This record gives sequence, structure tokens and C-alpha cells, in this order.
Amino acid sequence: MERAVKEDWRALLEAEKALDTGVYTKHDLLIVRGQGAKVWDAEGNEYIDCVGGYGVANLGHSNPEVVEAVKRQAETLMAMPQTLPTPMRGEFYRALTAILPPELNRVFPVNSGTEANEAALKFARAHTGRKKFVAAMRGFSGRTMGSLSVTWEPSTGSLFLPLVEPVEFVPYNDVEAKAGRGRGDGGGDPGAVQGEGGVRPATLEFLQAAREITQEKGALLILDEIQTGMGRTGKRFAFEHYGIVPDILTLAKALGGGVPLGAAVMREEVARSMPKGGHGTPSGGTPWPWPPGWPPSATWSARGFGKGPRSLGPGSWRSSRPSLPPRSGRCGAWASWWAWSSRKRPPPTSPSWRRSTASSPSRRGPR
Ligand SMILES: Cc1ncc(COP(=O)(O)O)c(C=O)c1O
Repeated sequence: MERAVKEDWRALLEAEKALDTGVYTKHDLLIVRGQGAKVWDAEGNEYIDCVGGYGVANLGHSNPEVVEAVKRQAETLMAMPQTLPTPMRGEFYRALTAILPPELNRVFPVNSGTEANEAALKFARAHTGRKKFVAAMRGFSGRTMGSLSVTWEPSTGSLFLPLVEPVEFVPYNDVEAKAGRGRGDGGGDPGAVQGEGGVRPATLEFLQAAREITQEKGALLILDEIQTGMGRTGKRFAFEHYGIVPDILTLAKALGGGVPLGAAVMREEVARSMPKGGHGTPSGGTPWPWPPGWPPSATWSARGFGKGPRSLGPGSWRSSRPSLPPRSGRCGAWASWWAWSSRKRPPPTSPSWRRSTASSPSRRGPR
């Protein structure tokens, strides 16, 4: 393969471009190798990788510990569905739950962020028996139909409608608006933690209120830490800044250190609500992405992950370039939403918060 790249890299670049669906705009660059923060193209040019796999490569490219663990695992066992337990899966569950609050003690393993959110949506419906979700304006949750439904302003406009309904979007960091307090009969509409729309941390007041309101109304608080998890904001998980624990936490990206890995981690009672076979994935939960000892909790603290953002303060979550407009940042964003009842309570009536099934031309897409 290496020889083929050397001899024929232009043809390979063209093949990728020509045979791809075209969903992505491709750069004129064939990246052949990565190490830490650097990558090299086929002509040997060296680059500092500021893309970082959009949050996947937080441990750096080809992190030697990850490479070693993956190699070991690949030689041992690479595919095993969840009906057949493996030591690696048990070890992964143990390592992950050990760095989470004790309430979050059940893991549903997946391969990506959007799958983690799909799982969360299904578990939430199974647990609450309710249909409605409340999501944050400007939040981003993924590109599959469920995740897209709780994403503000999909770039595709009305193309994929109808999405999962009902979903209500509430203003971010607006405590007044948040829970429908004083808005009548439990028309709860908690504001949510900002999604991809610009790296805006939630205020303490806002997220704590969201936690209280969801508890009060018997809804679940689902926190998407696909971007912010694993040390991105100075703590292992962003919710630790807020003194709250969600009912379901979704993780992916940096969780796998470069291999596809995601998880919906939840309270036991939420997990128990899902009937046998109610959800599943043959490749999610194979031992492949979970080499023994991964994610090694020791690594996170020993390597000082999170020290940078901690020392720089919350402003650093926004962007290393504060002059950039809010929408330009991707790092550190997170979103959350709530399973909510549409059966038992009338939804709030504020039209600006309601998404109709007709296309909404003002909604712009995930960037
Ligand atoms: C906050 C957030 N949630 C979910 C996702 C979807 O994750 P994935 O692309 O792994 O499906 C992303 C991806 O950028 C994200 O930033």
C-alpha cells in the first residue's frame, strides 16, 4: 500500500474524489501518515493538524499506547456481538464507569456519536413512555434521523422531513424560558446546553435548573458530551463543572482514541426500561475498538489532560481565537435535550420555539 501511495498518489486522490458520493468537499491533499499533532501528505509535506479529526483525534494521531492496544486486540479477537461476553468489553465497561458518577452505571456501546444519541432517544422513550423531546436551539446531535430531529437548523432544510416528532427547541441559556415555569400547565421547555452552534458554555444556573426541572417533571436529562467528554473542558466531563449528573450521557469521538467508539451511559433504571431486543448493534460492542485497558483512566490524569483548558478558564472553551464569530468554533460544544411528555401535558405555545413539520427556511445546517 505504501508503495502504491508513493507511485500513484495522484490517481488515488482522484479515485477518492471520483468514487465518493460528493457529500464532502475534499481538499487536494492525500494525507498518508500522522503522529501526534502532525500529519504528512503524499509528497512528504508536514502539517500541524488543526482539524484533529473534529474531536476524534484528541489523543493525537497514532498515539503509541492506542496503537499498541489495538494491535494486541486485533491479534486476539476482532468481532464478537454483545450476546457473547468478552473480557475486553467487561474491562471497558469497568474503566468507563469507574471515571463516571456511580449513578451512571449501565453502558450501551456503539460506534459513533449519532448512534449514541439514537440510543439515548430510544432509551428515553422506553423509560418515560413519553414521545416528546426538548432540544436546544443551535444544538447539534448528529446526522441520522433521530439525532437530526433534535438538531437545530439542519443544513438540509426540509429534505429529510418528516423527522422524529414532536421535538421542541428552546433558547439556550434562557432560564426564564427554560422550563415553562409560569407558562402554564407544565408546558416544560427547559433551555438546553448549547450545541455545535458556536461553543457557548451553559451557565451554571441554566444547567442546574434544567436538572431540577427534568427531575420535577419526570423527564430525563440527556447530556451529549460527544465533543466535550474525555477532558475537553478541563474536567473529564463537562457536566462536572455544573454539579449535576444527567440520566443519560452520550460519548464518542475522543472516547475511542481514534478508533470508532461511542457509548450511551445511563442510570440502571433507565437501562432496565428497554425490553430485550428493543435496541441493538452487532458491530457496536465488538471488542475491536476496546483493547484491554482502554480507556485507561490513568492516562487521562497522568498525562495532564484537561490542564490546558482548566488553566485558561471557561473562555478557552470557545476558541483559541476569541475574535472568531461564535459559530466558527466546534471544540467544546455540547448539547442536551430532554424526553418530555406530549401525552400528558400540552406543549408550550410560543411559536418561535415550535418546529413545524413544514420546512423552516431560517434553519441553517450543522457545520
Ligand atoms: C455535540 C455532537 N453530538 C453528536 C455528534 C455526532 O457524532 P458522530 O459524527 O460521531 O456521529 C457530533 C459530531 O460532530 C457532535 O459534535
